[in-house]
Amino acid sequence: MSYRIPLIRPYINDRVKALVNEVLDSGYLTEGPVTTRFEQAVASYVHVNHALAFTSCTTGLETALRAIGVGSGDEVIVPDYTYPATAGAVKIVDAVPVIVDVDPETLLIDYRKMEEAITRNTKAVIPVSLFGNPLDFDRLRDVQDRFGVCIVEDAACALGSSFQNEKTGTLSDITVFSFHPRKFITTGEGGMVTTNNSNWAESMHRYKHFGMGRVTEREEVQFLSTGSNYKMSNILAAVGLAQMEAFEELLERRRSLAMRYLELLQGHPEVKIPRTTDKGFHSYQSFAVMVSERDKVMKQMREQGIEVQIGTYSLHQHPAFQGRGVRLRGQYSGSIRAFNETLVLPLYHTMTEEEQNEVVEKLIACVE
Ligand SMILES: Cc1ncc(COP(=O)(O)O)c(C=O)c1O
Repeated sequence: MSYRIPLIRPYINDRVKALVNEVLDSGYLTEGPVTTRFEQAVASYVHVNHALAFTSCTTGLETALRAIGVGSGDEVIVPDYTYPATAGAVKIVDAVPVIVDVDPETLLIDYRKMEEAITRNTKAVIPVSLFGNPLDFDRLRDVQDRFGVCIVEDAACALGSSFQNEKTGTLSDITVFSFHPRKFITTGEGGMVTTNNSNWAESMHRYKHFGMGRVTEREEVQFLSTGSNYKMSNILAAVGLAQMEAFEELLERRRSLAMRYLELLQGHPEVKIPRTTDKGFHSYQSFAVMVSERDKVMKQMREQGIEVQIGTYSLHQHPAFQGRGVRLRGQYSGSIRAFNETLVLPLYHTMTEEEQNEVVEKLIACVE
């Protein structure tokens, strides 16, 4: 079904098409120089030493966990309110996801519960900067200093956000972004991993290139470790590169639309807006509100041609996360409420004020 006002419209302009055509004309379609330029554009935007393009955020998360040595039986703490791929990546490397509740105000991992879940088997935490709301690195670094766990950030939705003027992508040990079409920079499918650690970068580079290490001039493979093929083609990278060139402009437009949503909705008794992390700069990948009777509101808005969506999933409610090999902890009241009440509103750079007014009017009519 197509909606009059969709959730998102990807940024595909003449520059994107020209760059893709250049790649097609060149005949160099696999990972290559354009992929490198895309990686450099992301690295220089977030100010990080290494950026590696992947086929998705999920394959990036898997590779990041492998690089820091997470394996069979290790525990990795993840929030309950997230996309299943966050915990799925932990399962892929045969480790145990330990699922903790989220804060009911920010919808981000509950730092206290995260700390309480740490055991001597905990190798890493994967906090999620959900919807573009940055994580609180005062809290995370404090836990890291005291317990020595690695922070692999699932920043699928958070390119462009920052905490205390440091960009998401430099704050965690390893950060992983997604370029799925719901993100405002999209390559159709794709991901990017960033880190300042050269050893991890080298290990991740090797893993995504079949595990091949040190191929000599004579094309002799000197060793093969575990690995796969998670390369991003020049074609997809061209789409991403053209969007990175316009990134500041896209982010500014998105933020100004989000501020307008805030002005129009803040204070309405039936519409609650999740809190942005203190000292954080929200990139508003998604503009989320919380309403009671969310499913009824969602259905009514969709029927009127406005594409709205649930926020994300509450993992512990799914059979996939109830069996062996997953550790559930506590009551998850924050996540249950987030799952039941969150509604994501349309937001895209070409959205007009009239479209935005209509979304707000219809939302208010549905909740009142
Ligand atoms: C929080 C989160 N993590 C991971 C993913 C998976 O990303 P990808 O589709 O690029 O693998 C998503 C996808 O939307 C997501 O929202």
